[in-house]
Amino acid sequence: MTTFDITNSKQSEEDKALQEALKASGAIPEHIAVIMDGNGRWAQQKGGLRILGHRNGVASVRDITESCAQLGVKHLTLYAFSTENWGRPEEEVNGLMKLLVATLESEAETLRRNNIRLVTIGQCDRFPADIQKKLDEVKALTADNTHMELCLALSYSGRWDITQAVQHIAQKVAEGTVLPHEIDDDMISEHLATAGKPDPDLVIRTSGEFRVSNFLLWQLAYSEFFVSATFWPDFRRDELYNAIESFQQRDRRFGKLSKRHTKSIPSSVIRTLMS
Ligand code: IPE
Ligand code: IPE
Ligand code: MG
Repeated sequence: MTTFDITNSKQSEEDKALQEALKASGAIPEHIAVIMDGNGRWAQQKGGLRILGHRNGVASVRDITESCAQLGVKHLTLYAFSTENWGRPEEEVNGLMKLLVATLESEAETLRRNNIRLVTIGQCDRFPADIQKKLDEVKALTADNTHMELCLALSYSGRWDITQAVQHIAQKVAEGTVLPHEIDDDMISEHLATAGKPDPDLVIRTSGEFRVSNFLLWQLAYSEFFVSATFWPDFRRDELYNAIESFQQRDRRFGKLSKRHTKSIPSSVIRTLMS
């Protein structure tokens, strides 16, 4: 398996120019979250086993991680394995576990060298001991890195996340350290697995599916969505740039009024309306 290296990779002049144009045309999302879907169908199209799709998906992970870091994205969250994915055939789950270890081994040093911090969200204690050990090693190796945070959602589901947050808060209520009326949005956010991270600005889902599949249910309240028809193993930076370009054209109102509507009402109009 080849490794990616942001500092040493040969970025084409054309790609550098595309990134500069994207940075000039609007804000780069601070947090991008990706539902990496379609590996199995990609393999099926090629007449191969599903694991072939998962293996080829690693190259997309590398390319998207690298280009996000180059663009100045601060948080990249990748949905790699859901709670429900445990229900797949044992052979596929085992293949995914082996692939995770191999990828962590091959990419660890490059993450360290490129100042990318690896973190995880999810029930990693459900993984076999060797995988937990490898994850802990790479997290420790990259713990002080500051350029970008790469968060892998592993054995993760949004409902699990909300449930565990509610359990922790309920425990504090039972102990008397939190009163029920003190529970608010911020307190719930602080008890989720994503505590301390900004909510995703942009969520990308590949393979043409228009659903959330139990990803960051609480955190996606005001995220912008981009669905690509491309299967994950074929999803590369050119499509990431399309997604960011689309994001830059969105009017994020957060339930309020667009800046376009609020900033330019002349005072004479307001006086007329009020009279
Ligand atoms: C996404 O691809 C990877 C994981 C969920 C682990 P899929 O394995 O879901 O591939 P499709 O959606 O069946 O094609
Ligand atoms: C979502 O994909 C989970 C991940 C990408 C890890 P799935 O393939 O598991 O979701 P559904 O079954 O299409 O909803
Ligand atoms: Mg799928």
